[in-house]
Amino acid sequence: MRLAVLMAAIFLIPAAYTQTLRDLAAARNIHIGTAVTPSHLNEPGFAKTLAREFNQVEPENSLKFGPIHPALDKYDFAPGDALVTFAQEHQMVVRGHTLVWHNQLPNWLKTGEHTPAELKQILQDHIAKVVGHYAGKVYAWDVVNEAFETNGALRKYLWSSAPGIGLEGTGFIEQALRWAHAADPKAKLFYNDYSAEGMNAKSEAIYRMARDFKERGVPLDGIGMQMHFGIKASGDATAGKIEANFKRLTELGLEVQITELDVKLPVPPTEDMLKAQAARYSEIVGVCVRNPHCTAIQTWGFTDRYSWIPHQNPGFGAALPFDADYQPKPAYGAIREALQGK
Ligand code: G3I
Repeated sequence: MRLAVLMAAIFLIPAAYTQTLRDLAAARNIHIGTAVTPSHLNEPGFAKTLAREFNQVEPENSLKFGPIHPALDKYDFAPGDALVTFAQEHQMVVRGHTLVWHNQLPNWLKTGEHTPAELKQILQDHIAKVVGHYAGKVYAWDVVNEAFETNGALRKYLWSSAPGIGLEGTGFIEQALRWAHAADPKAKLFYNDYSAEGMNAKSEAIYRMARDFKERGVPLDGIGMQMHFGIKASGDATAGKIEANFKRLTELGLEVQITELDVKLPVPPTEDMLKAQAARYSEIVGVCVRNPHCTAIQTWGFTDRYSWIPHQNPGFGAALPFDADYQPKPAYGAIREALQGK
């Protein structure tokens, strides 16, 4: 009798409600991912929701230069390894973030007063060691993160020009891609940035660099689009402009991936704000679904329990598809429907 009731219940549940985000994304050959702090994997609600809904993970901080390379001769692979193990146990892929960035650098590097030749050697060793360690385990890397300013100029920082590694213009980006490719020829290599999702001076500069790299055979596979948004799209990041930017990049033979999506709200949010947030998630996921070369949709965390937003944007939060108790928000339903093409 009990079995009959159970069977009836199973067959009465509409298919849409038995399919998780990862089922729906996999059906479209898209990775659905999220950033993770590995210590949170010990929390059952966190681990259960993560494994059920996502098929890609990316360490939020653990692979950045400072955390992974805290002293010249010291590497700390343990947190990244823990996430790789979790991913393997749950049939998920891992994205790597990030090798060349201006932030989260270790003190030994920031205060080191190295010459360009010394810095070049340090960066080459770092990339060889980190990408080499994760070869065959991390399928894609944000090799370089946030190297352009809003006006399209190259950021002046340690790796580029202050003092730099001795290469002009985008030469340091090209060199980092070549080193990463040498360390793991099968890894997909990305340039990743924010506020360059739509059409503006920064996305134009990235497009020109990408076109130049593709023409010269530099090993660049794709562009990562961070997508840290609010509910109102700025004029240069409407769905139409993002779609146009994705189109011109993918016409170069590149992939695009959404790498750090979140939609911040003033806290506590109203029902209307949650609906507007769902609409923004829906249009962004829709843009990816419509471009066959958009291969991943990743949120920057998945639960409002853990997010960078309240720390760096006081008064804002609630940016993710699950609330702090792992309950789905309207944004979750919107992502699911957009993955179904609705
Ligand atoms: O781990 C240390 C801990 O040992 C120390 O006691 C504590 C004291 O403040 O700080 C901890 O480090 C913090 C780290 O997050 C881990 O929680 C850093 O202070 C804090 O600055 C760091 O913030 C990260 C931020 O990047 C740094 O710029 C956020 O978690 C992370 O979400 C954020 O991620 C970036 C992407 O990498 C690139 N795109 C933008 C995105 C959001 O800012």
